[in-house]
Amino acid sequence: MRNYLSKIDKKTSDLIRMIGQEADRKGISAYVVGGIVRDILIKEKNFDLDIVVDGDTALLAEALAKQGKGRVTLHKSFGTASVKMPEGWHIDFAAARKEQYVRPGALPTVQAGSLEDDLFRRDFTINAMAIAINPRLWGQLIDRFGGLKDLWAKKIRILHDQSFIDDPTRILRAVRFEQRLGFSIERKTLVLMKAAIGQEALRTINPSRYFSELKKIFSEADPGRYLKRLSDLGILKPLHSQLSIDLNDWNRFCRNIRALRCQALYRNMDFGLVYFIGLIAKSPMAVREGILERFHWTKTERESIRQSLGVRDILGQLSARGLTPSQVYKILRPMTGETVLYLRARALRPEICRRIDRFLVKDKGVKLYITGEDLKRVGIVAGINMGKALQEILYLKIDQRVCTKKDELNAVLSLQKQTGDRKAPY
Ligand code: CTP
Repeated sequence: MRNYLSKIDKKTSDLIRMIGQEADRKGISAYVVGGIVRDILIKEKNFDLDIVVDGDTALLAEALAKQGKGRVTLHKSFGTASVKMPEGWHIDFAAARKEQYVRPGALPTVQAGSLEDDLFRRDFTINAMAIAINPRLWGQLIDRFGGLKDLWAKKIRILHDQSFIDDPTRILRAVRFEQRLGFSIERKTLVLMKAAIGQEALRTINPSRYFSELKKIFSEADPGRYLKRLSDLGILKPLHSQLSIDLNDWNRFCRNIRALRCQALYRNMDFGLVYFIGLIAKSPMAVREGILERFHWTKTERESIRQSLGVRDILGQLSARGLTPSQVYKILRPMTGETVLYLRARALRPEICRRIDRFLVKDKGVKLYITGEDLKRVGIVAGINMGKALQEILYLKIDQRVCTKKDELNAVLSLQKQTGDRKAPY
């Protein structure tokens, strides 16, 4: 019997082996299942490990966390457990289950089931395989629905005709895997998917589930190219019925984002959000506000979207002749990192790009040597005036008109002189 775990990298293999041995000690059968099996077979890195067991999930999770110095979380009401390992692995443990959809688009009711039931409740054949990890069955593939054949044929295929109606999030997932893996949606699956879209199946799910799948798409490594497919299939309609997409503009924007993504400067930014901003920022106000209202956005996400609406005006300000670095700082400092990234991707003139880059690389991080204590020592009282004085010196420093601590103190004193106020320069 072929061992499907023989070619995985040593770190992954050691971890899975540890789980399998631990399960064996506790008399539990354990399997890696779902997306991780697909990724093991096509040699893609994946730090999310789903384990299905026929025993006590908490017992196994706790034993693993103890052995691998991980942090365990028990979800008692679901009978599941997860472990976060120090090397970045996230491991979910669940007992095999069977699902039933009482109405289209609703969350399924769950009951205990066999491994086969657990695989049958899944979205696509390529995600419905398991690999045994107990030592005596180590590496054995369980493939009841032809997942391996579809994986090699690069096909996305549902397991039964009702699949997209039961769980319409699979419509978005099909596009995500198709585009990410370069696979094609199998003919009958595509027919059923289009039929489900035509019946507005996506409207039967809670908007938050639709939105969270869409967010996953935007968080892919290069989501720009997914949009045409989503738009052609009518999958973006639930976002807003009047959302229109200018594909030329979108492609231009995505090219710029791709180039920026390679730069260390932008490494920690939420690119998913920036793609979203790119999608909706040029829409009419009613469309944008509708999207902001209908879906759950965090405070920062809302702020970034609202700030980005003024892009033309802000780029206009940033293109002014003779703008000093501190003037650029004043424009960009109140913005979120994602708004700045969006502006950078929308900027056409090299001068504006240089100004934004300088702000991010250098000026955003400029700090003064002097503190409030130093100002108190020269007689400036605490409060708004002190804040303003420090701010003014910071601008001078950004423009390289002061450099050392002594320069900074002298600058405060000369500001005081200018205002003729011994207590504060303002
Ligand atoms: N799954 C499903 N139907 C869904 C969501 C998930 O059948 N609507 C199953 C699939 O077997 C999937 C697994 O749950 O492989 C894990 O889901 P998720 O982590 O969302 O997807 P992955 O396949 O692991 O994809 P990714 O690489 O994007 O994490």
